[in-house]
Amino acid sequence: MNPETAESPFVRACRRLPVPHTPVWYMRQAGRSLPEYRAVRADVPMLTACATPDLIVEITMQPVRRYGVDAAIFFSDIVVPLKAIGIDLDIKPGVGPVVDRPIRDLAGVGTLRALDPGDVPYVTEAIEALTKELGATPLIGFAGAPFTLASYLIEGGPSKNHDHTKAMMYGAPELWHALMGRLTDITLAYLRVQAAAGASALQLFDSWVGAVAPADYREFVLPHTSRIFAGLADLDVPRIHFGVGTGELLGLLGEAGADVVGVDWRVPLDEATRRVGPGKALQGNLDPAILFAPWEVVERRSRDILAQGRAAEGHVFNLGHGVLPTTDPGQLARLTDLVHEASAR
Ligand code: CP3
Repeated sequence: MNPETAESPFVRACRRLPVPHTPVWYMRQAGRSLPEYRAVRADVPMLTACATPDLIVEITMQPVRRYGVDAAIFFSDIVVPLKAIGIDLDIKPGVGPVVDRPIRDLAGVGTLRALDPGDVPYVTEAIEALTKELGATPLIGFAGAPFTLASYLIEGGPSKNHDHTKAMMYGAPELWHALMGRLTDITLAYLRVQAAAGASALQLFDSWVGAVAPADYREFVLPHTSRIFAGLADLDVPRIHFGVGTGELLGLLGEAGADVVGVDWRVPLDEATRRVGPGKALQGNLDPAILFAPWEVVERRSRDILAQGRAAEGHVFNLGHGVLPTTDPGQLARLTDLVHEASAR
């Protein structure tokens, strides 16, 4: 990592070191809430954009220019590495990832071959260009975690109850672990490609794992997520682990080995600090829907989160989940300034 980036407030907060102000970025900061995003995406399908370095660079930079956030997040999607190894899938506007032939047996699992850096040359090219353009501002690389990827692959698309996913997890544990093992290999390789190209932090999104009870997380998910974080330990870049509805899982998410645990809006950060335990930084956790309320409400709630975040050994301000598409970018611009000013030490 370049020395300036290593000293940035974001990287220092992830490492639980003193910072001049609480760093802030937003999950899904690059995307549909920005008019400049909608303009460049007008005629380009999502997965085409994700494979076009110039577009990746432009879209990743848009929120950095507009808001002055403390980190950029690589513009891509969690299904990009699966597409890259030949899985037939698409991202449908307003729906999300859809898979042509859901994976529900050993033959299906067999189609998940290992990922090689040569499968994603556009990722390497875009990250190399971005790290030059970003200078001292860190770039966060990311991947979907095995459970969340498995849910899309098994269900064939977004799912409320994860019926088929849980049917396999509970009913065919050997098949489940075979699938999760392959996804772990792919995810680990994909994150390492991003770090090798210059990403200065890595976030694992296990967005839907909140559907799993703690004992089942320990048995069916933790062995795999632990292997991912252990496999990144030598890289010396902060590792962030995030999921939605994970109040009961916060301790286990920390146990999996990340440096930073992302918290959704349901658990206050002081309580999350207690649940996660010592030796971790926290990231979060303003309800993204609060941005639809008047500014005074956003300000009061954000100051509360900054105060609660002081309980943690390190705090990165973020939303509790991604920016909602109809969010007013003006609210995020004001919020970024507020976090910087209110937390200045
Ligand atoms: O955070 C960022 O700014 C980086 C970009 C990013 C996208 N997807 C771009 C995107 C990131 C980090 C993701 C991760 C992702 N993708 C997750 C994990 C994070 C989370 O929100 O929990 C998940 C579950 C997905 C799967 C996915 N892809 C969904 C649910 C959707 C939205 C479908 C819709 O249209 O409502 C997508 C598509 C997607 N990924 C869009 C963007 C900007 C919208 C595509 C468009 O502009 O048409």
